[in-house]
Amino acid sequence: MTGKENAQRMEKIVSLCKRRGFIFQSSEIYGGLNGVWDYGPLGVELKNNLKQYWWQVMVRERDDVVGLDGAILTHPAALKASGHVDTFSDPMVDCRTCKARLRADQLAEKNGVKQCPNCGGKDLTEARPFNLMFQTQMGASADPASIAYLRPETAQSIFVQFRNVLDVSRKKLPFGIAQIGKAFRNEINPRNFTFRSREFEQMELEYFCRPEQGMDLLAYWLKERIRFYEEIGISRKRLHVLDVPEKERAFYSKGTFDIEYEFPFGRQELEGVAYRTDYDLQQHIKASGKPLDYFDEETKERFVPHVVEPSAGVDRTVLALICDAYDEDSAPDEKGKMETRIVMRFHPRMAPIKCAIFPLLRNKEALVAKAREVQALLRPHMNVFYDEGGAIGRRYRRQDEIGTPFGVTIDFETLGEKGDELRDTVTLRDRDSMKQQRAAIKDLPQLISSKIR
Ligand code: GAP
Repeated sequence: MTGKENAQRMEKIVSLCKRRGFIFQSSEIYGGLNGVWDYGPLGVELKNNLKQYWWQVMVRERDDVVGLDGAILTHPAALKASGHVDTFSDPMVDCRTCKARLRADQLAEKNGVKQCPNCGGKDLTEARPFNLMFQTQMGASADPASIAYLRPETAQSIFVQFRNVLDVSRKKLPFGIAQIGKAFRNEINPRNFTFRSREFEQMELEYFCRPEQGMDLLAYWLKERIRFYEEIGISRKRLHVLDVPEKERAFYSKGTFDIEYEFPFGRQELEGVAYRTDYDLQQHIKASGKPLDYFDEETKERFVPHVVEPSAGVDRTVLALICDAYDEDSAPDEKGKMETRIVMRFHPRMAPIKCAIFPLLRNKEALVAKAREVQALLRPHMNVFYDEGGAIGRRYRRQDEIGTPFGVTIDFETLGEKGDELRDTVTLRDRDSMKQQRAAIKDLPQLISSKIR
């Protein structure tokens, strides 16, 4: 695809997200809040499906990982110890021509001269560090002792609670602590839709181990995480692994891989898998004076564990799911004329709605009653949507556009009007192939459930 085609594709995706209720700009009626997004009725389902699946495979299906839900407001001492207060910054420059604030590493360049990407101006200030943390005050007094921060990553509460979690879970190394939650960064240039936001969610695992296990576990977690993206339906060919060179890694990291995705606006990071050594725990030991070490009962050794961290962004993964799913093909309209069909090819596991239920006609009481029965039957097993409005073809299109993998139509055969053998059967339509099969109503929960887990 050319750059122009990619830009058009992205425009269509952003417009669909708003039109169908996946993602809205936050505070839109007041002109919008830059870098902040709200997830609509379908977006929240998609996001929840992603988070639940991550929690399922990263925590519940493993004996060696437990969960945590830490607070967003963070003690300044914790973020001082982690290095965020002093060094969590991006280099910022101002354009003196259009007054834009820009990230120094994202300036345009023409004939070796740095330019403002907004106005092309070359009159730029020197780069200076801009701390990305959001600071707030706790309590009524506004003195320096009341400063707290909105956490810039979920990881630090895991390190700070390491001792408590170890004591209550009685886990042996290697073991992990997982967390999903909000993080906040005052990004200089939020951009590319939700890709770089100021408020976002992370899914992080801190996997503690013996020092000699670090490099092997780094390779292990990279493999596991790639498998995860494939399991949620992201095409492998659009995923790339960047082995981050030493000079670009954090000084304490012995190895970092970025898992990148080919978005329409370019190849960008989805997740970092980093071997952070014992840096974080050592910093918190030094700053708090508390023993965040581990005693190995077998070898009788006491040491500070090392950690491997797969850290993924919820919002970026949702965006990758949406970009990967977006497709256009053609399908016949009501009169048999071919028209463009927008179809979101979400993996059924991730699709916001799993099955749509349509009575063939809305003014036939018996069809509507049967459709409501099917809805009640499926509802305990999955998220379903009932729709009786408009021609059946249009109803299919509306569901294709939001990625509903299955559609069930209740017709006159269902009522037994065309013979007893078809009574209480429905047509089950597949979104991708658009093929229809006849299925017994009683078999639907099992038939559809087996495809969405
Ligand atoms: N604890 C490690 C850590 O926070 P990071 O690479 O800064 O590492 C991890 O962030 C992930 O969080 C990124 O790979 C990305 O998916 C997500 N992320 C980071 N900044 C973001 C932003 N401004 N908007 C959306 N997602 C972001």
